[in-house]
Amino acid sequence: MNIPDNFQVIDHALIHHKLGLIRDKNTGSKEFRELVTEATMLLGYEATKDLSLKDAEVQTPITTAQVKTVEVADIVLVPIMRAGLSMAEGMLKLIPNARVGCVGMERDHETHQPVDYYFKIPNQAQKRTFIVLDPMLATGGTIIATVDRLKDLGADKILCVCIISAPEGMEAFCEQHQDVKVYTGALDDHLNSSKYIVPGLGDAGDRLYGTD
Ligand code: URA
Repeated sequence: MNIPDNFQVIDHALIHHKLGLIRDKNTGSKEFRELVTEATMLLGYEATKDLSLKDAEVQTPITTAQVKTVEVADIVLVPIMRAGLSMAEGMLKLIPNARVGCVGMERDHETHQPVDYYFKIPNQAQKRTFIVLDPMLATGGTIIATVDRLKDLGADKILCVCIISAPEGMEAFCEQHQDVKVYTGALDDHLNSSKYIVPGLGDAGDRLYGTD
């Protein structure tokens, strides 16, 4: 399979381990949520490694030190509700002072097209770095529409973190947004006729919140 340049599957022993538990249908909601948070932290560690840095100076107890800092107030986490919310918790453990902009997009069960019911993003999109969070990159429709909306606001620094991706979503997203990098924990086999990722983990929102 051809993997686009802006798509990265993060190969890490702990991510493999946690994905095994996340996929297991016998894993209950509490543990599932904790694992999603932990997997997001591992993916987020890699996804944020090239955030821009600013030079600064601090006083250590000994002397002056030149340090580098991330402009955390310019980082905006964008969880796509509802399943993305659990990923925001993981990212906030890494970047506690990041802003959080929530996007409510859901798939229409018949058309499978994204429907936008909530969109609350901090102003001055041009100076922010947006980290879009959605555990499942399935058809790609929802996350493509979210990135479209962010770009409409002037955003040009956007990256996405997904726990599991399907080849169909990867292709659709990477063709539409070649300038936006996607970090994922796994690239699965395919989508089934109901647009679920196979083997996947089932419905992420239902498993997170016990609504199945
Ligand atoms: N959303 C989910 O929660 N699961 C899938 O497999 C695809 C989309």
